[in-house]
Amino acid sequence: MAARLASSSKRLSSFLISSKVTPFCRAYSSTNIVGESPILVRDFIHSALYDPEHGYFSQRSASVGQLDSSIKFNQLQGRKAYMKYLDAIYKRSDISWFTPVELFKPWYAHGIAEAIMRTANFSVPLKIYEIGGGSGTCAKGVMDYIKLNAPTRVYDNMTYVSVEISPTLAKKQLETVGEVDSHLAKFSVECRDAADPNEWGHEEQPCWVIMLEVLDNLPHDLIYSKDQVSSWMEVWVQKTRDGQELSELYKPLEDPLITSCMEILDISKDGSTRGSMAGSFAKNIWAKIFPSPRKCWLPTGSLKLLQVLHGALPKMSLIASDFSYLPDVRIPGERAPLVSSKKDGKSSDLNSYLDAKGEADIFFPTDFWLLERIDHHCSVKLKPRDISSKKGKKRRTLTLDTSSFMEEFGLPTKTRTKDGYNPMLDDFKNTKFYLSVPTHNTK
Ligand SMILES: C[S@@+](CC[C@H](N)C(=O)[O-])C[C@H]1O[C@@H](n2cnc3c(N)ncnc32)[C@H](O)[C@@H]1O
Repeated sequence: MAARLASSSKRLSSFLISSKVTPFCRAYSSTNIVGESPILVRDFIHSALYDPEHGYFSQRSASVGQLDSSIKFNQLQGRKAYMKYLDAIYKRSDISWFTPVELFKPWYAHGIAEAIMRTANFSVPLKIYEIGGGSGTCAKGVMDYIKLNAPTRVYDNMTYVSVEISPTLAKKQLETVGEVDSHLAKFSVECRDAADPNEWGHEEQPCWVIMLEVLDNLPHDLIYSKDQVSSWMEVWVQKTRDGQELSELYKPLEDPLITSCMEILDISKDGSTRGSMAGSFAKNIWAKIFPSPRKCWLPTGSLKLLQVLHGALPKMSLIASDFSYLPDVRIPGERAPLVSSKKDGKSSDLNSYLDAKGEADIFFPTDFWLLERIDHHCSVKLKPRDISSKKGKKRRTLTLDTSSFMEEFGLPTKTRTKDGYNPMLDDFKNTKFYLSVPTHNTK
């Protein structure tokens, strides 16, 4: 349990929550998500999380928690006191979890603002987009910091556009940022799916895109192979004959997002791996005697979002933070998600994503190596084999542990307790920051 406790905000919360029940619609079942025809796994996950009526982020006004005030870390003795303090907050509120930008407000957002200020080109007005801004704490913190620390003209001319899929959270963001009157003229919320290409215009100017804990909630696809050597199949979700349950259906690979993702990952469609003839002969025999089914989760939601962002904002710089791994995952497959549900005030993990139906959060670890490849691929439409070489690369990218990022750009002394324990640096070992800026490479 110690590893889990120290691992992430979402995980952390699951051991501290104990009081209230978050209401959910009992009559709604996961079979309602699927109609008469089967749907791809990513479409199932999208509905379970974002269906306007029944989705996890739509029905739970408290799916993203907001602290009433900042935690005064310097007044707490150490880890024990911090845990006790958090426990009390969770007992008082109806929320599912607090994200780092919330727990460490305003310092976490200030670190992000400082990273932007050190890199931004101030000869053009500063334009920031935030995808999935939750309760608006990041937006407010970034704008506060720029107002205080950047030349006046930078703040005066800046714009901050939040693209948020949940109407409840979009409203909350306006309230949070509106606490400072002068921010409101520069801030706007667009309530829409950021991965929908039809909703974006085209922005030729340099701009920034911030995404905190968004990639983990983006839909993924699943591929399946019945043993170590058979071809990969794409996984669809269907109703069982009596309509009472859901089951997986395996179809030959066809979906373009799935096949692009496999190419970027360098997974061959026929299930083969590189090696000698003798080696693959032995593998075939082994697979026949001891067949071991394979499952692999693909971040097709991230691929789609990055394709759309690179198309609409070709000179964007990107700051994303997310979980690099998740503990105690029960769902099978590489890069598998945690499906976490809260009932009677207690969190528990489900054994199948098919049981998620609006009251469960489905979140994935981010494979940062793969994220970087996807980013390069989308920025220039590189052929997958060229991704590893410098040829044609249009991005400079960097992946940093959260502690390294905050030590570089933030003010870590502000989140240090009396005995030196610093939850922002010490408790988020399974989260990373990804930074990606355009280069002048035009070849
Ligand atoms: C886990 S919350 C993180 C909230 C906030 N960034 C934070 O760190 O506190 C994920 C957020 O992304 C939003 N979101 C997820 N998918 C989205 C999409 N396709 N377009 C826009 N917003 C999205 C959710 O509604 C929610 O606000």
